[in-house]
Order: sequence, then C-alpha cells, then structure tokens
Amino acid sequence: MKRGAAGLPPFLTDMKPSLVLIGFMGAGKTSVANRLAKLYDYSAVDLDTLIEEASGMSIEAIFAAFGEVGFRELERQQLAQLDLREGRVLSTGGGVVTQERNWPLLQRCGTVVYLRASLTTLLQRIGSGRGRPLALKGEEHLVELLESRLPKYENADIVIDTDGRTPDEVAREIMRMMEQRKR
Ligand code: S3P
Repeated sequence: MKRGAAGLPPFLTDMKPSLVLIGFMGAGKTSVANRLAKLYDYSAVDLDTLIEEASGMSIEAIFAAFGEVGFRELERQQLAQLDLREGRVLSTGGGVVTQERNWPLLQRCGTVVYLRASLTTLLQRIGSGRGRPLALKGEEHLVELLESRLPKYENADIVIDTDGRTPDEVAREIMRMMEQRKR
C-alpha cells in the first residue's frame, strides 16, 4: 500500500475520520479503541469514563443511586456535550443504542462501528459481571437484553465480527473497512 508523509495510509493523511464503537458488554469496545489509539494515533475516549468523571461516581454507584433511567440521562448528557473532532475513537456503553434519541448524537461523532460477537464469546468475556450492574442479573437476563438490542446494533455503518480475533486484529480490520468505504 502507498504510504503518506507520516507513514500512514493515504486516507488517514487526507483527513482522519472519527469512529464510534458500539456493541454489547464484552464486545471489546474499550480494548479496540485503545488499540486504534496505539496503531493509528487516534485519541481514545470512553463514554462511561466521561460519565464517571463528570458525576464523580462509579457506574455501579450511579445505577445504585439513580437506577438505569438516571444513568441513561447522564449518558445522553455526556454524548450531547462531546465536541466534533477528527481522529477520535469513542467507545460507548453497550446500552447507548437503546435510546433512539442517541443515534443522531452517535452519528455526528463519526462512523459508527458495531463490534459483533456471539453469545458464547460475550458471556465468556463478561465473566462474573463485576462492574457492570446489568450483567449481575443472570445469564437469562443478558440473553434477553442482547436479543432486544441486536437489531439496533445492526444500524451501524460498519459491522465487524470479533469472535476469535484479538483487539489488534479487530482494529486493523476496522481500518481496512474504512479504507474500502473511501474508494
Ligand atoms: C451497559 C454497559 C456498560 C455500562 C453500563 C450499562 C449496558 O458498558 O455503560 O453498565 O447497558 O449494556 P460496557 O458495554 O462497556 O460494559
């Protein structure tokens, strides 16, 4: 592949598009965002971290104090406050897609990429569910949650299968797909 001035693929030297990673808990959004930051000099921003910083509370504490409704409100506020920027990869919480009104906000932040994984992979990665209040209600609840969200995730601009792939491989695949979209 021809390389640009900084050794980056030409489409990245033209203008660095921003990316938004969506997907269920355990899809690997944060790890892939960090990998994109390392490989392609993206600035990685995590929506849950922004919520925790703004509220001064952990995600678990927010759910305990205000419930899911309160958490979704904080999530929306942080999303709405994000400025537009080149070269940023935003990792989001798995439930951000459940609010229809969040979609325009996600899309304005960049190309929306769905990290898809099978139920088996997700359950393995979620493990005991520590730190994820909605994962503590048992496997049956997780399956229901996943099924209700699947059609929403599929609205993404790009879908990437992550089963059996490392964050590094997924990050490189995202960039390959981005390059194809430019052609
Ligand atoms: C949630 C996923 C979590 C976090 C919160 C709610 C969800 O983020 O935003 O616990 O509704 O699926 P991860 O997807 O990073 O675990």
